[in-house]
Amino acid sequence: MKPADDSKVNYKDLVQRGYNSCAAEYDTSRQREAGPELTLLTSRLRDGATILDVGCGAGVPIARTLSQRFAVTGVDISGEMISRARANVPQATFIKGDIMSVELPPSHLDAAVAFYSIFHLPREEHPELLRRIYRWLKPGGYLLATLSYLNEAPYTEDYLGVTMYWSNYGLEDYKRIIEEIGFTLLKTTVVGHGYREEVQASEERHPLIFARKA
Ligand SMILES: C[S@@+](CC[C@H](N)C(=O)[O-])C[C@H]1O[C@@H](n2cnc3c(N)ncnc32)[C@H](O)[C@@H]1O
Repeated sequence: MKPADDSKVNYKDLVQRGYNSCAAEYDTSRQREAGPELTLLTSRLRDGATILDVGCGAGVPIARTLSQRFAVTGVDISGEMISRARANVPQATFIKGDIMSVELPPSHLDAAVAFYSIFHLPREEHPELLRRIYRWLKPGGYLLATLSYLNEAPYTEDYLGVTMYWSNYGLEDYKRIIEEIGFTLLKTTVVGHGYREEVQASEERHPLIFARKA
């Protein structure tokens, strides 16, 4: 783990290039079926509901599972991930771009999901990202997102053969930020690492927050 504090390095570019390089390995390492955590959301939505998948990766299992009943748009900064997502989930729409730069209409989404992606953005952007999602949601729309338990200053680490970047606030900070924006926190639960057990058997845990726009 190395501090990511070099002002000459563009860390978003590093994330983008990193995922372009490891997209194939990530895709084959990821679980093929979504866990029960998605039903928190899917049980509350009508068929055809509009869902944004933030940092959708290769689209499996999240966008693919959601696309069975809903109209899914995935956004990802990595072109390689987007190519894979288009092949894996032809029925969904995918946009290549930084989630902080894409322009989406206000109040048009029934839900937004973000699995294992927010921690790759610089943490000072996390409140603004959550505000953007809030603006894109319809009143009563839902957010289902993995966040972090630990407050972690930006760092880089080897990951699937590339150098990758992470940064996080702690869970209590996220709860405060989410409620200040106007979300009602409905539930906080926990998910594992999301990889196939043959690939990683560790006890890694991520908090999953489920919130609703007022
Ligand atoms: C660990 S993968 C998770 C992918 C997917 N959500 C899943 O559950 O498998 C993180 C993804 O977030 C994407 N990502 C990172 N920073 C992003 C940004 N600023 N905007 C959009 N996507 C981003 C990466 O390219 C990568 O595909």
